[in-house]
Parts: sequence; C-alpha cells; structure tokens
Amino acid sequence: MKEIKALIKPFILEKVLSALDEIGDLPGVTVSEVMGWGRLPEHDQGNDAETEGHGFSNKTKIEIVVKDEQAAAVVDAIRKSAYTGKPGDGKIFVYDVSEVVRIRTGESGTDAV
Ligand SMILES: Nc1ncnc2c1ncn2[C@@H]1O[C@H](COP(=O)(O)OP(=O)(O)OP(=O)(O)O)[C@@H](O)[C@H]1O
Ligand SMILES: [Mg+2]
Repeated sequence: MKEIKALIKPFILEKVLSALDEIGDLPGVTVSEVMGWGRLPEHDQGNDAETEGHGFSNKTKIEIVVKDEQAAAVVDAIRKSAYTGKPGDGKIFVYDVSEVVRIRTGESGTDAV
C-alpha cells in the first residue's frame, strides 16, 4: 500500500479532483488547507497578506492511500492536472504504508484500504 501526498495550488484543487475521479475506484481522499514554502520563492496571487511576510504560501494538501498497483496512476493524474508551469506548482511525495485498519469492520491490510 502507498500513500500519495501532494501539495498543490489551492485554485487547482477541483481540476485535480476531476482527474482523480477519472481513475475510478479510488478508496478515499483527505484534503486540507496548509501553508508551506519550497525552494523557489513564489509571487503568487494566492498568497494572503498575513502569510506573505514569512515566505509562506497557501497550499492544498491531498492525501490518498491506495493499493500498490494504483499508485502510479494517482501520481500521474495529479502531476498532469496540477501543472501550470509556474513556480509553486507543488510536489508529490509517495510513502510505503505498513498497515491500514478499517474501524467499522475490523478489516486490515489491503482489504481495508
Ligand atoms: N522538501 C519539502 N518538504 C516538505 N514540504 C515541501 C517540500 N518541498 C515543497 N514542499 C511543500 O510543497 C509546496 C510547494 O512547493 P513548490 O512547488 O514551491 O516547490 P519548489 O521546489 O519551490 O518548486 P518550484 O520551483 O516549482 O516552485 C510548498 O509550499 C511546501 O508546502
Ligand atoms: Mg517554489
């Protein structure tokens, strides 16, 4: 099992979610509003005055845990749909997930994803 964590520009979230929908059969997604900075400074209009002075930009974090065979398709869909070509397009991190437990059913492992 893999976790795909992506930091993307907030305005592009709907486009990324549509691209993920097209993969079909995704078991779940978590979305949060976060702040961060990367290597290259951004001059986004997405920054608000409160965060700009600290070098932070508003970002949207997407977290998805899938079976190994779906991971490449998820990464590809996010990469293509979140691309603008401008600084701050974001990053995608992929992690191994050692265990998943579905609380309601007690299932674990890939059955629980
Ligand atoms: N190494 C990292 N560790 C944790 N979070 C990161 C890391 N790199 C980027 N991020 C997160 O991803 C967001 C987007 O990063 P960003 O796209 O600006 O990276 P970059 O390396 O500066 O690339 P670019 O040159 O395209 O701007 C950051 O605001 C931060 O939230
Ligand atoms: Mg950057």
